[in-house]
Amino acid sequence: MSNRMWGGRFASGPAEIMEEINASIGFDKRLAPQDIRGSLAHVAMLGAAGILPPEDVAAIQAGLKTVEGEIADGSFVFDRALEDIHMAVESRLTTIVGPTAGRLHTARSRNDQVATDMRLWVRDTLDALDAQAADLQRALAETALKHAGTVMPGFTHLQSAQPVTFGHHCLAYVEMLGRDRGRFRDARVRLNECPLGAAALAGTSFPIDRHATAAALGFDRPTANSLDSVADRDFALEALAAASICAIHLSRFAEELVVWTSAQFNFVRLSDGYTTGSSIMPQKRNPDAAELVRAKSGRIIGALTGLMIVMKGLPLAYSKDMQEDKEGTFDALPALSLCLAAMAGMVRDLEPVAEVMKRAAGSGYATATDLADWLVRELNMPFREAHHVTGRLVGLASAQGIGLEALPLAAMREVEPRLTDAVYAVLGVENSVASRTSYGGTAPANVRAQAERWLAALGPA
Ligand code: ARG
Repeated sequence: MSNRMWGGRFASGPAEIMEEINASIGFDKRLAPQDIRGSLAHVAMLGAAGILPPEDVAAIQAGLKTVEGEIADGSFVFDRALEDIHMAVESRLTTIVGPTAGRLHTARSRNDQVATDMRLWVRDTLDALDAQAADLQRALAETALKHAGTVMPGFTHLQSAQPVTFGHHCLAYVEMLGRDRGRFRDARVRLNECPLGAAALAGTSFPIDRHATAAALGFDRPTANSLDSVADRDFALEALAAASICAIHLSRFAEELVVWTSAQFNFVRLSDGYTTGSSIMPQKRNPDAAELVRAKSGRIIGALTGLMIVMKGLPLAYSKDMQEDKEGTFDALPALSLCLAAMAGMVRDLEPVAEVMKRAAGSGYATATDLADWLVRELNMPFREAHHVTGRLVGLASAQGIGLEALPLAAMREVEPRLTDAVYAVLGVENSVASRTSYGGTAPANVRAQAERWLAALGPA
C-alpha cells in the first residue's frame, strides 16, 4: 500500500529495506510531546488568522489532546510504516477526528515541523543541563569550603609542582562548569527562534502569523529566512559542542578520581555508593562511576563530530541526511545529564585522605619555589640566580635522600652563605599555601572567599 500522507503519485509501497532505512519513528517518538505542542500552536494560529473555521480548530485541538493522552498513558501505537512521529500523530488524529485532521498540515511541512520539535527538545535539555551543572558546582563549592586548608600536591606534567589546597582544586572545576553553563545559555539564546511557518523551504502563500506561533511556543521571534529555517542544525551542533566541552571537564576530573583512589596515591576515598567490587579479587573497590564518566565523554564528542560530518556537505535546504541529527543528540545530551548527576553524587560523598595528601605535598621538593622566592625577597637576589641556588640545594638534599627542610643550615650555607634559620619557615607546605595570597591563588583565605562567593551566587539547591 502506498503511503497515505504522500502516496498520491505512487502506485505501490516502499520496499521492506526502504522502510527500514527511512523510518525514524523508533527514535523520534521521544519528540511526541514537542510535536503535539507545535501542532496545538499551529492550529490555534490557523484559527486566529481565519485560515481554518473555529469548528475545525476545536475538533483538531480535541483530537490532539486525545493523542497526547494516549502517548502519555502508553496506549499509542508507534507504527514503522508511518515513518516518523509527525505522520504517526497525524495519522492517529485522522482516525479520531476524520478528514478534518488533514487541515492541520495547511501552511506547514514536516521540514519546519521537525526543526521546531528538535529546537523545543534541545532547549528543554539545555535548561536541565544548566540546572544540573549548577548542582555539581554547589557540591564542589561546599567541598571547597570544607577543605579550603586541606593541603595537597599541585601538579604540572603530573609531577609534584607546588602545594595547593584540595578546596582550590575543587574550585578549578567550579570555574570550568561556570563557563560550561555560559555556553549552554549562549546556545539557548541563538536557538530560540521559531522555524514553524517556513513550510517546506520557501514560506507559504497562506496569511499565517509566525510571530504568534513563535510566541506561543516560547521563542523570542520567528526565524527570518525560510531556507535557513529548515536547513539549519546549528542549534544541535552548538548544544553538542557545549556538551562535549563540559564532558571533557568531567572526564578530566573523573581521571583524577581514578588516579587518586588507587592504592599508590590514596588521596581520596569514594563512598560505597559510587564504587563496585570485583567478582574475583575481594580487596577491590573500583571507581566504575568515574571511569564511565570518563568514557561517556567519548560518545558525546562522537555525536558532535558525527553530526558535523553529516551537515558539512549538504546543499540547501532540507535533505533526509538531517534526520540523522537525532540519535546522536538523543544519546549524547542525556549521557551528559547522567554524568553530571554521577559526579555530583561522587563529590558529595567523597572523603579526602588529608594526611596522605599533605605528606605527598611535601615530597618531591614541592616547596623549592618558596625557597627561591625567599632568596629573592630576603637577599634581593635576581630570580634566575635564586632558581640556580635552589636547584643546587635540591640536588644536595636529593643526593642524601632527604627533604629540603631536613638539610642542616651549615650544609645550606656552603651553597649560599647568607641563608639564615628563617628559611625553614617557607619550607613547610602549610606556609607555602598560606603565602599564595595573590588574587586567584591557593591561600586558604582566598579559597574560602571564592567558595563563599560561588555559594552565594548559586543560591540554595
Ligand atoms: N523524519 C524527518 C526528519 O527527522 C522529518 C522531516 C521529513 N521531511 C521530508 N521532506 N521527508 O528529518
